[in-house]
Amino acid sequence: MKIEKIHFIYFSPTGTTKKVIEAIVKGLGSDQLDHFDLTFPCGQIEKTIEDGIAIIGSPVYAGRIPEDCLQRLEGFRANNVPTILIALYGNREFEDALVELRDVSKIQGFNIVAAGAFIGEHSYATQKHPIATGRPNDEDLSLAFKFGQEIASKLEQDNFTLPVIEGEVPYRERIKFGGIAPETDLESCTLCGQCAQVCPVQIISITDNVTTQAERCIMCCACIKICPSQARYFSHPSIKEKRELLTKHCLAPKPPKLFL
Ligand SMILES: Cc1cc2nc3c(=O)[nH]c(=O)nc-3n(C[C@H](O)[C@H](O)[C@H](O)COP(=O)(O)O)c2cc1C
Repeated sequence: MKIEKIHFIYFSPTGTTKKVIEAIVKGLGSDQLDHFDLTFPCGQIEKTIEDGIAIIGSPVYAGRIPEDCLQRLEGFRANNVPTILIALYGNREFEDALVELRDVSKIQGFNIVAAGAFIGEHSYATQKHPIATGRPNDEDLSLAFKFGQEIASKLEQDNFTLPVIEGEVPYRERIKFGGIAPETDLESCTLCGQCAQVCPVQIISITDNVTTQAERCIMCCACIKICPSQARYFSHPSIKEKRELLTKHCLAPKPPKLFL
């Protein structure tokens, strides 16, 4: 089949998933894009995809697909359209995230023809904890572009095999987030409001102060990464401990894994 329309669906609080998917889309070689950014509360999108191909991307949170991403995907249906799945992880492991995304999207009618686990800067990375800092880098993006080209060639064949995706079923137990959120250093904060704008769960309010409803925080770090005055930070000991562990065990760069 020749690729015409590409339905481009993603959840990407700190932008790395989006970057990789954009490179794959370029490789697929069509500029007819139907764009669904599920990063921000968008109401329940009800959409049936009848034609073209779809690409769905999500970050990996604790080896799974984040619940907010799954909820925002719920209203999508597809009429057996060829679909590419992408999981973006922070150089630790992607564990069961891709098989979870495969299972959910199959039930909704997507026909999975390719999948990939790519690496993006870990949400908890800092200057002192450079966990996958700078990724996806040029090499990752060039691989993503070539992957798009290879998928386009695969789809031109009449008969092709479906990919075997790495991961376990039953999936690893879901870790519940909530209760821990970034804080604001009011001395450096300029109340510009960019943190509130990028929050995927809209829990930050700006008045003459910044308040964050910690119980609904998904710890995505979008507010920390966007802050122009570095005023948002985590002080919770569990995040400090996690950063130390990641720095100890996950600095050696991993290559993306492709399933075609
Ligand atoms: C709550 C949370 C849990 C995470 N869990 C994992 C994980 O299990 N394995 C991993 O390698 N990276 C993990 N990460 C890192 C993200 O997968 C990574 O930073 C990804 O690039 C973020 O995607 P985005 O830029 O599209 O938001 C986690 C990040 C967060 C915020």
